[in-house]
Amino acid sequence: MINYEVFFVADLFNLSNETQLQELCKGNKLLIVMDKNINEIYGKQIERFFRSSDCIYKIFLVDAREENKVMRTVTEICQAAKDFQMKRNSIFIGIGGGITLDITGFAAFMFRRKTRYLRIPTTLVGLVDAGVGVKVGVNFDNAKNLIGGYYPPVATFSDQSFLKTLDVPNIRNGLYEIVKMGLIDNRELFKLVEHHHKDFLTKKFNDKTDTIIYSSAFSMMKELEPNLHEHNLKRSVDFGHTFSTFIEESSNYSINHGEAVGLDVLISSFLSLKRGILSQNEFDRVLALTRSIGFTNLYKLPSLERFHEALDAVRNHRAGNLNLVLPSKIGTCIFTNECTKEELQEAVIFLHEFILV
Ligand SMILES: NC(=O)c1ccc[n+]([C@@H]2O[C@H](COP(=O)([O-])OP(=O)(O)OC[C@H]3O[C@@H](n4cnc5c(N)ncnc54)[C@H](O)[C@@H]3O)[C@@H](O)[C@H]2O)c1
Repeated sequence: MINYEVFFVADLFNLSNETQLQELCKGNKLLIVMDKNINEIYGKQIERFFRSSDCIYKIFLVDAREENKVMRTVTEICQAAKDFQMKRNSIFIGIGGGITLDITGFAAFMFRRKTRYLRIPTTLVGLVDAGVGVKVGVNFDNAKNLIGGYYPPVATFSDQSFLKTLDVPNIRNGLYEIVKMGLIDNRELFKLVEHHHKDFLTKKFNDKTDTIIYSSAFSMMKELEPNLHEHNLKRSVDFGHTFSTFIEESSNYSINHGEAVGLDVLISSFLSLKRGILSQNEFDRVLALTRSIGFTNLYKLPSLERFHEALDAVRNHRAGNLNLVLPSKIGTCIFTNECTKEELQEAVIFLHEFILV
């Protein structure tokens, strides 16, 4: 049985707030793996917190770039843990976005064949995605997340107050993951995002943005829970992740992951519309929301042939089945193993027109 907790807290490192974090730190040896940028902005406050927390700690800084999300960084963290004489019951703490959390979790997974760890996400993707599942890992030989494991933290502490310093492209990155969750699982969440996504983009965080983050993380956990180890490759949370990897790769990563998910959501919704599954009215809502959230740059989209090849790669990754997720109605979805070249062609033409408008 897998057990871990996700705490939603405000101002986690404010000394006057009492949280489970203080309890977990008390009397322990901690290796804090922190995003360098987070250290620059919040380092003093974070150190003040740990200095007053009755623990022994050491800080390891991570330059959170995909090229550093590799085994070398994991072994450096393990080396720091050894030099610090971390024991079996010591704790790793990851503070940062998905890159930092994935690396920290993987180091904890490897060190002494599993050492406890905590996650403190500081990006929107971290709050609604990387911080709530159990996947840890690194990139390998230019393949994203090729090496890794399933290893839950003891707890995640989700504090949206970090978002005030996050740039807009990284906010969009997370917003599209939230749109995805709303579309496949939570109609109310989708509606909330329709009304309040501008609050995220203008960084006017409030009760509504709090509710959106909470609902999205909750929907994600609900979908992941029965299938934490991914034995079943028919996963609704893969919605938006069929064409997106390929779009990211072929843009040479000039499009961020979340925005590629946004484009994938559009393709999948278009396919669903054309099959008469998603209504025109609901498709128009998806389109309007995507337009309003927007994209950071203009991208040159790959050709139809390349899109078609991408489907073969996805089939391989999903053990022979396409398991393409299509929204059937806002808040629910279906799976299909078919996507003809003609259907895809129409969708790709639509996407090209959408991008050019
Ligand atoms: N394990 C999972 O289930 C899972 C799920 C989703 C994504 N991921 C992984 O997460 C990674 C992407 O993570 P991400 O999008 O959270 O961001 P990230 O870790 O790539 O960070 C993005 C940038 O934001 C900066 N940053 C982080 N927090 C900040 C803050 N509060 N203020 C200012 N700057 C801040 C970082 O320094 C970095 O420059 C990918 O490697 C992806 O594979 C993992």
